[in-house]
Amino acid sequence: MEKLSTKLWLIGGTALVVVLVIAAMGMARQTSKDSFCVTCHAYEKVSWDYGKHPEVGCIACHTKGVVRDKTAGMRKVMLTLTDRVDPHRDNLPSYKDKINDNCVACHFTEERLALMPIFKERHDEYRKHSATCMGCHEAGHVIKLRELRQTGVRLKI
Ligand code: HEC
Ligand code: HEC
Ligand code: HEC
Ligand code: HEC
Repeated sequence: MEKLSTKLWLIGGTALVVVLVIAAMGMARQTSKDSFCVTCHAYEKVSWDYGKHPEVGCIACHTKGVVRDKTAGMRKVMLTLTDRVDPHRDNLPSYKDKINDNCVACHFTEERLALMPIFKERHDEYRKHSATCMGCHEAGHVIKLRELRQTGVRLKI
């Protein structure tokens, strides 16, 4: 009798874990979509739509790995829900250095560099002069539009 109930617990427990893992995977996928980001970052959507990378999703540039994305994301949802930051009105922090690795991951692949040795040669030199690609490239967001978002007059209600 006792053995049977242990077995049932094991089966039940395993089933629960499987369901939770599937649910978490689904959530992770939904919260990585551009449409999710845009609910809070409408300004950034516009400066991205008109930029050079509208075909590259938000997360491709803004990721630091799933675990860090999701913990940072949960913190941001909390900040928004508790009204400590209003992402539509407040100036948001901006970290070019966090994004740089992802630029490199797409543009400096072995294949690309092998196809374009001059590109590599020149960029080895260029990169000595700027800590990030953004020192020279307007990537992701149109800077003019991006700055409007940072300086726009907002009414406090
Ligand atoms: C529930 C609202 C909300 C959603 C949804 C949201 N964000 Fe944010 N985001 C915020 C808030 C609030 C901040 C400011 C955080 C702070 O002050 O530290 C922020 C800051 C940022 C920043 C700048 C600071 C940093 O950590 O790099 C980036 C980039 C960013 N979000 C990208 C995204 C992306 C990409 C998505 C979709 C995967 C997304 N956000 C979804 C609310 C949100
Ligand atoms: C090709 C890469 C790229 C893509 C795609 C991209 N971004 Fe960015 N994003 C950047 C860079 C680079 C910065 C830092 C801007 C700077 O300081 O020059 C940035 C900054 C931000 C910030 C911080 C606030 C600010 O203005 O600096 C937020 C929020 C943000 N992006 C959200 C988004 C959202 C939402 C999407 C998708 C709709 C997106 N980004 C798509 C590269 C990208
Ligand atoms: C997911 C991959 C991906 C990421 C991440 C990415 N890019 Fe791109 N980038 C592309 C694609 C695709 C194009 C358009 C086709 C091409 O020129 O290769 C492009 C185009 C460009 C161009 C040429 C634009 C022109 O004038 O023709 C530059 C410069 C550039 N990206 C810089 C950056 C920088 C800087 C970052 C980091 C903020 C970045 N990219 C992040 C994929 C990416
Ligand atoms: C000091 C300035 C400078 C820095 C820093 C820089 N670039 Fe460039 N980049 C240029 C110039 C100038 C060109 C056009 C001439 C050339 O290809 O050498 C260019 C061209 C490009 C192109 C387009 C090549 C094509 O197919 O037309 C891409 C993509 C690119 N850079 C990506 C990056 C990435 C990613 C970074 C960061 C790792 C970066 N650049 C850093 C100056 C810079």
